[in-house]
Amino acid sequence: MVAPATGTEFAAVVNPLAGPVPSVEVPTAEILAFHRRLPGYEPTPLLSVPALAERLEVGSLLVKAESSRFGLPAFKMLGASWAVYKTLRERLGSDLEPWHDVDELAERLSALRPFTLVAATDGNHGRAVARMARLVGLGARIFVPAGTSDARIAGIVAEGAEVIVVPGNYDAAVARSAEDEGPRAAVISDTSWPGYRDVPRWVSEGYSTMFTEIDDALAAAGRRQPDTVVVPIGVGALAAAAVEHARRHGGRGALVGVEPTDAACATASALSGDLVTLEGEQRSIMVGLNCGTPSPIAWPLVSRGLAGFLTIGDEWARRAVRELAAVGIEAGETGAAALGGLDALRDRGAADALECLFGPTADVLVLVTEGASDLAAWRRILGVEVVGATATEAP
Ligand SMILES: Cc1ncc(COP(=O)(O)O)c(C=O)c1O
Repeated sequence: MVAPATGTEFAAVVNPLAGPVPSVEVPTAEILAFHRRLPGYEPTPLLSVPALAERLEVGSLLVKAESSRFGLPAFKMLGASWAVYKTLRERLGSDLEPWHDVDELAERLSALRPFTLVAATDGNHGRAVARMARLVGLGARIFVPAGTSDARIAGIVAEGAEVIVVPGNYDAAVARSAEDEGPRAAVISDTSWPGYRDVPRWVSEGYSTMFTEIDDALAAAGRRQPDTVVVPIGVGALAAAAVEHARRHGGRGALVGVEPTDAACATASALSGDLVTLEGEQRSIMVGLNCGTPSPIAWPLVSRGLAGFLTIGDEWARRAVRELAAVGIEAGETGAAALGGLDALRDRGAADALECLFGPTADVLVLVTEGASDLAAWRRILGVEVVGATATEAP
C-alpha cells in the first residue's frame, strides 16, 4: 500500500486541457435574493492580508474567509440550501413564492411531509443539508465515510439528522446515499452521476453568491478583479462556480486548483485527458477534499477553466492553518488548503508556467472555505494559543 501523503509532498501541474469554457447561465441575482431570506445571511469578509502578500512575494493577497457562513463553519450552506430549495420546488410541482422567511417557506412545504433529505458528506455538505432540513421542518439522513471524526458527526447530529457511517471512502458514501432516492426522500448530492445532474448543478449554482459578494466587495473598494484565484478542489463543484464566475468577467483571472496529494482526482483526470477514479481510500486531513472522482457535471468547466493544479501533502495544510490563525483568520485544514498550495509553490518554486501566475505584481485571491469545523483538530494543529489579529477588511 502507498504511504499516505502526510508531509510536504508537492507537485505543480499545468492543465493540458485548458481552453475555452462552455457557457452556463446562472441566475445569480435570484440566488442571492434567496440566500438573503435565510436566517443569519451576511456576506463573509474579503480580507486583505499584506503580511502574507509580502511573504508569498505577490502584489496583494486577498482572502475570502468562509469561517462562518449562516453560523456554520464552511461555505457549503450556499450550495446545499439552493439545491434543497430547487429540489423541493420541483417535487411539489408548484412555485413556492411568495415567502419572506423560512417559517413561511416551511408552511408551504406541508403537503410534502413526511419527507427526508439525504446526502453523503465528508462533513460540511451534509451538515448544511441537515441544517436546511431542520429549518424547513423535514427529516435528514446523512451518510459519512468510515473514519469521519466524532466532532464532524456530532456537528451533523446536532442539526437533528440521522448519521450513517458507510464502510469505505466518500465515493462509497455517495453510492449508498443514491439508493435512498424515493417518493418521500430526495438525495441532495454535490457530485453527479449518470441520470443525476440537476441537483449538483444547483449546488454549484448556489456557490455563485460567494463570487457575487466578492464582486461587490471589490467594487466597493475600487479594486479590479484578481489576476489569480486559488480554489480548493474536492469534486470540483466550487471550482466550477469559480470558472463560471471568471467567464462572466471575460476570462479575467487565472484559476489554480489545490488538491491533497492522496485525493488529486482532478489533477489525475486532467493529466489522463478524461475523468479518473482514484484507487483506495483518501485519508488526507483536508477531509473536504477527500474525493476519488471529480463530479462529471463540473468537469467540462473545471477541465478547461483551470490554468493548473497544485497537489499538496498534509503538512502544507497544517502550516497554512497556523499562518492564517496568526493573521486572525480561523481556517480548518480543508479551508486552509488553497493557501497551503500557494505556500508550497513559493517554497519549492516550480519548473513550469504556473510561477508566472503569482508574480510580484499579481493580485491573488485565496478562497478559505472553512473555519474550525473540527475544533479539537484545529487546536491540535495550532498547539499554542492564538494571539494577534492583523487581517483587515479590503482594501
Ligand atoms: C471546506 C471545503 N472546502 C472545499 C471543498 C471542495 O468543494 P468541491 O467538492 O465542490 O470541490 C469542500 C467540499 O466538501 C469543503 O468542505
